[in-house]
Amino acid sequence: MSKYETNFTSKFFAKRAFSFWKARVALYALLKALGVGQGDEVILPGYTCVMDVNPIKYLDANPVYVDIEPKTFNMNIELLEEKISPKTKVIIAQHTYGYACDMDAILEIAGNHNVVVIEDCCLALGSTYKGKLAGTFGRAAYFSFQWNKPYTTGLGGMAVCNDEKLAEAIDRLCENDMVSPSFKEVAMLAAQLMVYRTFIYPGTTALAQTLFRWLTKKGAVVGSSSTCEFEPVMADDFFKRMSCVQAKSGIRQLKKLDKNIIHRKEMAKLYDELLSGKDWIPRQYDSAVQDPVMVRYPVRITEKEKALEEAASAGIELGSWFECPLHPIETPMQMYGYEVGMCPEAEKAAREVVNLPLHPRAGKKTVKRTVKFISQFEQA
Ligand SMILES: Cc1ncc(COP(=O)(O)O)c(C=O)c1O
Repeated sequence: MSKYETNFTSKFFAKRAFSFWKARVALYALLKALGVGQGDEVILPGYTCVMDVNPIKYLDANPVYVDIEPKTFNMNIELLEEKISPKTKVIIAQHTYGYACDMDAILEIAGNHNVVVIEDCCLALGSTYKGKLAGTFGRAAYFSFQWNKPYTTGLGGMAVCNDEKLAEAIDRLCENDMVSPSFKEVAMLAAQLMVYRTFIYPGTTALAQTLFRWLTKKGAVVGSSSTCEFEPVMADDFFKRMSCVQAKSGIRQLKKLDKNIIHRKEMAKLYDELLSGKDWIPRQYDSAVQDPVMVRYPVRITEKEKALEEAASAGIELGSWFECPLHPIETPMQMYGYEVGMCPEAEKAAREVVNLPLHPRAGKKTVKRTVKFISQFEQA
């Protein structure tokens, strides 16, 4: 294991960690190593990023979507069991925005049907459920270090597991099939990380995102997703390893993780207080069961489009994900087996939810400014 992988295992009590170019690559490795293949079914919430669905399709398996429950945006456990069929191989427990899933219920249902559980911790680094870290419940878990994630190495993903057999299968895959990122990709990513550290603050984020998307389309930067990833066709160089630039940055970020987590919790509490003061309903979760480390603070509003437009010109950092059940709106959802109406709560959340910043650069002043801005709108 690399130094970054070793350091990661000790934070997450895992025997093995495997680093990749992106989290979607980590999920692909896990599914492939578990033997998921043609006609198998993989269950996940219908409120996710399409990049999480691609690895399922690349393996000729079929995604099966479960609607969410409206408070934590996680898979609605009441609807899970009816989605299980003899073809179900895996349930992906996605801890959305940082709220941990009801792991007891998921593990029980999965156990009854002999189905593997993988945890998607891309939005929940450090969250706990019944005092135990998200990422330590399933057969395996994976994490993302893309720009919007709990900490960033530009792009990056990690899979962790305690299962020797699964680890051996991933080792074999990596030895046989994995490719390295090109020199150009790594150099561009290193430059982007430098720009990010120097220039990206809450007030400049909206502008930077617009510029970044435009530059991605022109091929001038390493984008989080390329155009070909909005269709379920795997690129030749998809199965890519993590570069040294990402790993070095990850080692540094991991050292700052405890501080990052404290900051996120404090800022989320401040949002709770300030929003309550404006007569908004703040976060709703069972604090006796979970202690979330939120990646962003989700709120529902009636005029999402208007708020996003005004926020961009006012220099307020509002996130719009998830914009549709399989984010982003460019996704041709039918190609991924999603029909409109399949997950009504997820579709409603996609129309209503904007998310507010909690990252280490968003301090009390940003939180207060963001609440002042958002509370001009009506809560949905
Ligand atoms: C919940 C979730 N899982 C997985 C991913 C994929 O992460 P990555 O961009 O590192 O491949 C995303 C993407 O943003 C995501 O939102």
